[in-house]
Amino acid sequence: MYFRQFFDSRTAAISYLLADPPNAGAVAIDPDPDPCHGLVLKSLLAERKLELGLILLTHTHDESFEDLAEQYPGAVIVAGTRSRPSGGCRAAIDDENFCFGHERIRVIATPGHTPFSVSYLWRDRLFCGDALELGGCGLSEDRECDPGRIYDSVTTRLFALPDETLVFPGHDFQGRTVSTIGEERQRNPLFLARSRDVFVTAFRARQQGGHGAGLPRFP
Ligand SMILES: [Fe+2]
Repeated sequence: MYFRQFFDSRTAAISYLLADPPNAGAVAIDPDPDPCHGLVLKSLLAERKLELGLILLTHTHDESFEDLAEQYPGAVIVAGTRSRPSGGCRAAIDDENFCFGHERIRVIATPGHTPFSVSYLWRDRLFCGDALELGGCGLSEDRECDPGRIYDSVTTRLFALPDETLVFPGHDFQGRTVSTIGEERQRNPLFLARSRDVFVTAFRARQQGGHGAGLPRFP
């Protein structure tokens, strides 16, 4: 298997490339639509003779896929979406598996940060986008961001995974790019010993500022 993590220092966003080299299948998770990142990704694919068949998005904030579709015309874009997918796009449905080479990656619905956020589980690795920030969770000023659903998604779907599952987030604001489900369940201060009501109240109180770096943290 081939696994690569990309960090964008401008936005603190993290994206991923997974591949099954013997069978040439590759998947990009949350790739940056920026053309410079596209060049890096395409160079890596060409160098390793990999074919990018799938682009899996954990979420979008504007349901705009045109930039990615233009950059990667041969790849199917998969995302949770409110609208009927068209062209080279497919809806991410809870518990559905997507294949690349001889590998499979599973969709886990984790709504809350956006109504259609999903996570992806590949082997022992979870790609959760902004559903779960390491030591935190993805705050957003978006009106559609629903803290109650974030709490439910994290506590009933993600924390139900085995302790040793590796957690790869959609952003890194604190120099941490990987954790485990066990560590987050036992140490994440936002979920530790908080009831759903307390979590929602604290979230609402801090739900200000923009989406991204510099957002206030829970106490
Ligand atoms: Fe987000």
